[in-house]
Amino acid sequence: MRKPIIAGNWKMNKTLSEARELAQAVAERVGSVSDVGMILCPPFVALEVVGSIIDGSNIELGGQNVYWRESGAYTGEVSPTMLVSVGCRYVIVGHSERRGRFGVPEPDMTEGLHRLFGDSDESVNVKAKAALAAGLIPIICCGETLQERQAGDTDLIVREQVSAALEGLSAEQVTSLVIAYEPVWAIGTGETCQDDEANRVIGVIRLTVAELFDTDPATSMRILYGGSVKPENVKGLMEQLEIDGGLVGGASLEADSFCQLVETTQAVYQR
Ligand code: 13P
Repeated sequence: MRKPIIAGNWKMNKTLSEARELAQAVAERVGSVSDVGMILCPPFVALEVVGSIIDGSNIELGGQNVYWRESGAYTGEVSPTMLVSVGCRYVIVGHSERRGRFGVPEPDMTEGLHRLFGDSDESVNVKAKAALAAGLIPIICCGETLQERQAGDTDLIVREQVSAALEGLSAEQVTSLVIAYEPVWAIGTGETCQDDEANRVIGVIRLTVAELFDTDPATSMRILYGGSVKPENVKGLMEQLEIDGGLVGGASLEADSFCQLVETTQAVYQR
């Protein structure tokens, strides 16, 4: 059985003191949970502080983004080795908020802000490779926009994003990494993808991965769902066979809701 993961993507939230407080509260309540993987992904500036608080617990540290070069004149960027040096084991790659046109919000703001920071299928691939080379586990995000879903292109989009992200990786590398299916229209909107539909799309992702490799990394790799995961809906999502956990934004910003997600997931998997 695949060990589930609840990962908190704090996005651009929490000052250093707020980050400290949140990490402490989470570590106190769920730090010793061993049958659910827990990852906190604070902003870069809080990585060290959060890392020192969760050190010795079962909670692991992740970055929210990474550049693919080792070092050099890349103002504002952070390398895989730097993330490792501050204690990260994971890094989110290709989040929908980081894909797309650089710095230009998409005109349709009804879906919230996404596709802001220039990542492409190609850059997601090189970032994933660089992360793996440094010993990090990438959490590769994929997911369709509302327009793409309405056009009936959901499966096509996630298949393309996943295939491009995994291009040139070995089956062994793919086994170790994590994919997160995050439909863009469900991120930060309060609107969750229906349990069975999230399960279906994640099944499509697993099939896509299985088709790409001779040996089958798809049965053992973890694929998470993300998009308005909260204590009220987590049970139904975690009961789905294809869903191996959640990548959580809003509900990870409060210790109580994040810990409830961990505890509910634990209860579902213990049955
Ligand atoms: P929300 O949980 O706030 O919808 O965010 C999901 C997400 O984007 C996690 O990476």
